[in-house]
Amino acid sequence: MRFAIIGTGAVGRTLAAKLISLGHHVTLGSRTRDNAAATEWAQQAGPYGHAGTFADAAEFGELVINATAGTVSLQALRLAGADRLAGKVLIDVSNPLVFAPDGEVTLDPVNTDSIGEQIQREFPDTRVVKALNTLSAQLMVDPGRVPGEHNVFIAGDDLEAKAQVRTVLEQFGWPAAAVIDLGGITAARCTEMLMPFWLTMMRHVGHTDFNYSFKIAE
Ligand SMILES: NC(=O)c1ccc[n+]([C@@H]2O[C@H](COP(=O)([O-])OP(=O)(O)OC[C@H]3O[C@@H](n4cnc5c(N)ncnc54)[C@H](OP(=O)(O)O)[C@@H]3O)[C@@H](O)[C@H]2O)c1
Repeated sequence: MRFAIIGTGAVGRTLAAKLISLGHHVTLGSRTRDNAAATEWAQQAGPYGHAGTFADAAEFGELVINATAGTVSLQALRLAGADRLAGKVLIDVSNPLVFAPDGEVTLDPVNTDSIGEQIQREFPDTRVVKALNTLSAQLMVDPGRVPGEHNVFIAGDDLEAKAQVRTVLEQFGWPAAAVIDLGGITAARCTEMLMPFWLTMMRHVGHTDFNYSFKIAE
């Protein structure tokens, strides 16, 4: 399958590398065609890996992943182009974290809105599924880093899109039973609001190999 990854940071490159290892084709998108991180990644990725602009990636991908900072995701996706994103499933892994100079981290939007919802509102013809945003980049593609049973959340309004995302998650190594469907895209605000707690836990334990584990009574 052809994937577009919008974002050249650690998350975009980690997801891109995993997808290549699974036999998929990936274009890693950036604001500029000569982005050093994307170009270097594509050189190492082999013939299935390409670098380009956000628009090049969106044109290429059958399935799109938004891996940009949530505070600039709408700008990035506007550059990708609504027409190129129309009809496609978009996995939104972003978090709208705002870092203050004193180290305090807040979210914007928050409480009554989320970046997942903002993306779905601005791109109504794109099938947005919030997923993976509560995990470290490494854990997204290697759930065995945390022992035992633990969970990944999905949220979105399009059931068929969520089924496609489940398939991708299973390819990443997530057991089907580990995937918790929280419902419509409004649930994105819940998973985004986990992030201040996640960051606090990271500082507390000193690493990122931890996750949520729910035993849900039938
Ligand atoms: N790090 C983690 O383990 C982790 C875990 C879960 C979720 N997340 C979320 O995943 C997302 C990606 O995180 P990341 O650390 O890999 O990357 P990031 O640094 O948050 O974002 C990098 C991307 O943002 C683009 N960008 C920056 N400013 C922009 C602007 N003004 N307009 C348009 N695009 C702009 C960059 O474009 P260029 O390529 O042109 O530079 C780059 O592609 C974030 O939302 C983060 O909260 C991260």
